[in-house]
Amino acid sequence: MKHIEIAVELFSRLASRLSSYTMARLLRGMEEALRRGGDVSMIYHYASMLSPRGVYEDLPYPEPSDYYKSYETEKIKLPSPPERAGVDVFEAIKSRRSRRSYTRGKLTLREISAILYYSLGVTGRAWWGGPKRAYPSAGALQPVEGYIVANRIEGLDQGIYHYNPGEHALELLELGDFSYKIQEIALGQEHVGRAAAVLVLTAVYRRTAYKYSHRSYRYVHWDVGFAGENVYLAVEALGLATTAVGAFYDEELCSLLRIDCVEEFPMLLFPIGRRSRLEIH
Ligand SMILES: Cc1cc2nc3c(=O)[nH]c(=O)nc-3n(C[C@H](O)[C@H](O)[C@H](O)COP(=O)(O)O)c2cc1C
Repeated sequence: MKHIEIAVELFSRLASRLSSYTMARLLRGMEEALRRGGDVSMIYHYASMLSPRGVYEDLPYPEPSDYYKSYETEKIKLPSPPERAGVDVFEAIKSRRSRRSYTRGKLTLREISAILYYSLGVTGRAWWGGPKRAYPSAGALQPVEGYIVANRIEGLDQGIYHYNPGEHALELLELGDFSYKIQEIALGQEHVGRAAAVLVLTAVYRRTAYKYSHRSYRYVHWDVGFAGENVYLAVEALGLATTAVGAFYDEELCSLLRIDCVEEFPMLLFPIGRRSRLEIH
């Protein structure tokens, strides 16, 4: 009963902040969630729909001051990424597969540089001077951040690093072997622990939400989807192996990356390694 009282109190406080349009959407979503045996996704699904009667409502978020995070830590400048892959983009799209079998071999820093640049890198400038990125982004707000859990990368100590796309550099967050930890976080999936590196894509929610309010939870997923396909294609072009991994314990991953799971939250993991013979076909 206690939970119900808390829910009623929270709901009435929330309702007092919503427009009648959003309130009607929310109620519609709750009805649908009930009809579908408690599928709470329906609440957000309906609450975030646009219609001619309601578009974006303001949320009290300030305009973001950055397009990517920067840590004041040791920086490891990445080598320039290769200009060409030697694989046609249509070929790469056709041969792309989720590959979960890796050798014990190392990745090179140049391979990591290529994967990060061609998925998240700054590839140009907009007319207002802001960066343009390898992935398209709603409102050009660029919510996606990248982290590398380095296990076997030539010339790089094992540890956790943040990718700074402006400087095309890795920023050290913590040294150590986190291969087993990241496997545990990914619900024990062994291919995650065996990878030479794991790229984690996160979203800094406010960058998008200041403009697109509560629809932004959709937008940041779309942005990450585009960046994620870039990861797959860059990995394919390099002849390496990866798989998108969406099954992970959110809060455990947040504490590993030192993010709070609200302002910034994890979206996808990409274990990356050298293709084993099983994957060469
Ligand atoms: C959002 C998303 C989450 C996924 N999560 C996992 C996962 O947790 N573990 C895994 O082994 N594969 C995962 N995959 C990979 C899919 O299983 C794979 O894309 C699917 O089987 C199709 O195979 P293909 O990518 O080779 O075409 C995920 C893929 C996507 C797009």
